[in-house]
This record gives sequence, structure tokens and C-alpha cells, in this order.
Amino acid sequence: MGSEKKLRSRDWFGKTGKDGFIYRSWMKNQGFPSDEFEGKPVIGICNTWSELTPCNAHLRELAEAVKRGVWEAGGFPLEFPVMSLGETIIRPTAMLYRNLASMDVEESIRANPVDAVVLLCGCDKTTPSLVMGACSVDIPTIVVSGGPMLTGNFKGKKIATSDIWRFAEDHKVGDISDEEFKMAEAAMCRSQGHCAVMGTASTMASMVESLGLTLPGNAAIPASDSRRKVLAHLSGRRIVDMVDEEITPSKVLTRKAFLNAIKVNAAVGGSTNFIIHLMAIARRIEAELELDDFDKHGSGIPLLVNLQPSGDHFMEDFYYAGGLPVVIRELKDHLHSDVLTVNGNSLVENNKDAECYDRDVIATVEKPFQENSGTTVVRGNLCPDGAVIKTSAASKHLLKHRGKAVVFESIEDYKARIDDPDLDVDETSIMVLKYVGPKGYPGMPEVGNMGLPKKLLEKGVKDIVRISDGRMSGTAYGTAFLHVSPESYAGGVLALVENGDIIEVDVENRRLHLDVPDEELKRRKENWTPPPHEEYHRGYVSLYIEHVEQAHLGADLDFLSGKSGSIVKRESH
Ligand code: FES
Repeated sequence: MGSEKKLRSRDWFGKTGKDGFIYRSWMKNQGFPSDEFEGKPVIGICNTWSELTPCNAHLRELAEAVKRGVWEAGGFPLEFPVMSLGETIIRPTAMLYRNLASMDVEESIRANPVDAVVLLCGCDKTTPSLVMGACSVDIPTIVVSGGPMLTGNFKGKKIATSDIWRFAEDHKVGDISDEEFKMAEAAMCRSQGHCAVMGTASTMASMVESLGLTLPGNAAIPASDSRRKVLAHLSGRRIVDMVDEEITPSKVLTRKAFLNAIKVNAAVGGSTNFIIHLMAIARRIEAELELDDFDKHGSGIPLLVNLQPSGDHFMEDFYYAGGLPVVIRELKDHLHSDVLTVNGNSLVENNKDAECYDRDVIATVEKPFQENSGTTVVRGNLCPDGAVIKTSAASKHLLKHRGKAVVFESIEDYKARIDDPDLDVDETSIMVLKYVGPKGYPGMPEVGNMGLPKKLLEKGVKDIVRISDGRMSGTAYGTAFLHVSPESYAGGVLALVENGDIIEVDVENRRLHLDVPDEELKRRKENWTPPPHEEYHRGYVSLYIEHVEQAHLGADLDFLSGKSGSIVKRESH
């Protein structure tokens, strides 16, 4: 190890007299010998383990593998819990608490005697919240994802999270029975880990790997595979060296690293949630990044992986085919090569020898599954600050379209009327959902891919255009314009759309337009007030509503942007 001066933990454990006694003595009740406190780098293991976050329920076990690596390399590992967010459990939506969890992470790291931190995460929001919090402290940080579940199997057919939407629609029209529906429920999540498709969790695991925050290969190793523990063990070893080498997030997360991550995300067909989380991370670490970068740098990138929800295969197949290293190697000519990753090498260097074992899962740049991937950013009077659409998950024939709006004033209104036989909707209609943005819902839930009306499903219609200020699950698909900014609750034009208005969609020309004269929109605005948030008059949620930023900025709280560093001058004894 280098000079002791580098270790911030010495400000606690290196003290003499009463203060040093207090800092060490209580820690010793856990059975640590004195020499652990005598200059070893202290490695915090920030754990989102929780039985209420099923995707992360195995992370205590994974933490043990990290600890083995830390001990072996001469560090002193100390595991600590932070708020965990179970995507499928938390009400009203896990996104409401991403920023709260990030505050917990930031303050827990800064307030404690840790020299570096290992972030253990998995389920959708646990990854961005941990990275956001760690960026605002900026001590050496490495991420270890929990890994995806094994592929589910139902009646001899491979299944995973994206099949829920299909099962639900088949169940709705009577194509599968109640009993079969229940059998599928048990067959899908059959092992530890997060969703087994390229949904938000896998997108986040790929994001941290492509940003250079993990060791190579992090994204795809299944949670149940022993090699996930090997990765955790090696990450434990590596973080100890990172303290000496002073590799902090701000050295890794440069603008070029963000642009690399955008390109890799396009190539894997990642979730639209990537945009919101990456923007929030960039603003924490103070890197230059804006919404248009996602279109500009991602749109020309070919789709290289054939994974659900856009394709056929699952994360387990992705791992067996070679995983993210193969995608990075394929993309090498598109990527910035002079970016640092946590192991001290560049992203391109790390993956230059990756081999592909299944071209049906990972394609070459020369023969991709789709020429253009990525997310398209559209603008127009409906979304002057932007809206996004995942074109690889949309229907081609709807990407240029004019249709009549069918408006839902809230998610409850949508649920109450969607299957009404009298709903005035057909396959050319455009469904509009209001007040599901960051402030409006509050928390911007994943409801933007509204399920289709029963009467259209019965006619065999599989997709129509949908527009909202909400998000869409990374496991979902459909022609859904999302993240409309400014949102309806903040007075965006989306709030003014009425049933029967004509909306124009033109993805090639990046346009989303409400064909209503400005005069008429002005008249409607004068008569508009946002719906009241009566139940949120106190506590975190009222703070969130007041301070959350719009989607195109990452939906962080305005006072959390940037860093405060790791120094804490005052102590209480
Ligand atoms: Fe946790 Fe999908 S619900 S990753």
C-alpha cells in the first residue's frame, strides 16, 4: 500500500486518545483483531440485500465472496445496508424512491470510515441509486451486479419477464386459463437474480460495465452461476488496489465513457430507462451530457444482440454466447478507446480478445440484427424538451402516423375505461395518458406502454401509438412515446390534449406534434390547473414533488446534482 495519508479511514481508526478509543472499541465487539485498524484500507460493501427486493435477495451471499477478495488483498471489508428498492413490490413505484436511496448511499459512504466502496445491486433502481450516491462522494468505487435469473420454463417453452405482457393479454381474452396463468407465475422466476431479459436491470448491469465501473463480464453472468461469485471475489481484490491507485468515479466517468455507454446500450437494445438514469449519473459526476446525445450517438449503432423483449433469447444465452465483452469488441471502431476502467485498462483493451460462441445471440457489426438501434429523441409542440421512443421495440408501420387522440386523464381513468366496449378507439387511434410524470404521479411509473383495449385485442390488433409523460418497463414493447417533457403536471402541452385531437408522429424526422392551433392551446391553458396532490402534504414525497427535475434532466432532485466530496470535518465526541 501507498502512504497512510491517502486513507480517509485513518481520520477515524488512526486517532489516539479518547476519540480513537471510541472509534475502534465498539467496532471490536464484532471480534476484529487490533491490527485490522492499523492502516489497512477499509472497504465498504454497500449492500441492497433485502427479502423485499427478491432480485437482490442473494446479495448477502455475494458480499461474502467480495469480502474474501478484500481480505486476500490486504483490505478490511465492512458490509453495510442501504435502502433497497424491489421493483415489483414497492408502491406506488420504485422510481419515486431512487433519489431517496441515492441520498442514503451518499450519506452512508461519506459519514463512515471507508476508503473505497463496492456497490452490490441488481434490481432496476438499485444500480442507478447506488452509482448516483457514490458519484456524489467520489471515492474509489467498483460495482458488482447480482446477475440475471436463469431462464424460466413453462410447458417446455423458455419464458422470462417479457412474457408477462403476452400472458396477461392471452388471459384477458381467454386463451389461457386461470390455472395456467398461475403455473406460469411459478415457472418464470425459478432462481435467484434479476429479470432474465434485456430489461432495465440487465440494461443497468450493461451500463455499469460499459461505463467502466465493473470488471469485464459483469453484465450477463447468471446470479446462480458460480462465476458470479468469482467476479465478486476478484472485484473485492481489485478495489483494494484501486485505493492505492486513487481510481475514483470522476476519473472513470468522463464524457467519453458516457458516450461509450450510450453506444453499447444501443447495440444491446437496452431499456429507455437507461436515459433517465444515465442523465442523473452524469449530472452527479458533473460530466457534460444532454438528451440529444442519446439520439446523436446511439441512433447509428446497429442492434447486435437478439434478446427479449426486442428479440428471441435470454440473459443466460447472452452469457453463454460471450456476453457484453463480445458486443464491446464488435463495436470497437465506434467506441472511444482512451477511457479508463476500474481495472486500470481501457474498455476496448479489456475486451479485445472476447470470443463469440453463438452468432444467433450476438451478431457482428457487418451483419447486425437491425441496422439502426438506440433510442430516438423526438420534439414538437407536445414535447419541446423532448420525448423518447425505443424504435427497436416499436411497430415500423406506426413510426409515421396521424391519428385521433383517445385521452386518459389519469392511470385510474385509463384502468376504469380501457375495456369499455363504448370506448371510441380503433387501430389508428393514439392513446394519451396524462399525469404520470415525475411530479404528476408522483414518481414517473412504468405505465407508458398502456395495455391495449380488449376490443382491439379481440380484433387481433397488437400495437397502436401511445404517448405519455411516464416511463415504460424495460421488459415491455410497443410504439410508445415516453418521458414527454415538460410533463403534464408541470403545465406541458400534454395536459391540454383532448379526445379527438389529431396527433402527428414522424420518427424519422424526430417530430411529435399536436395538430391544434396555438390560439386554441392558449385558450385551453388559461382554463387549466394541475390536479391536486391532496395525499402528499408532508414527508419525503412532498419534498420530491417540489424538487424533482424533469425527465430530460434525469429526474433527480434539483439539490442533489453535483458532488460534495468525501471530507467530513466535524466529529461529535
Ligand atoms: Fe427486479 Fe425486474 S423486478 S429486475
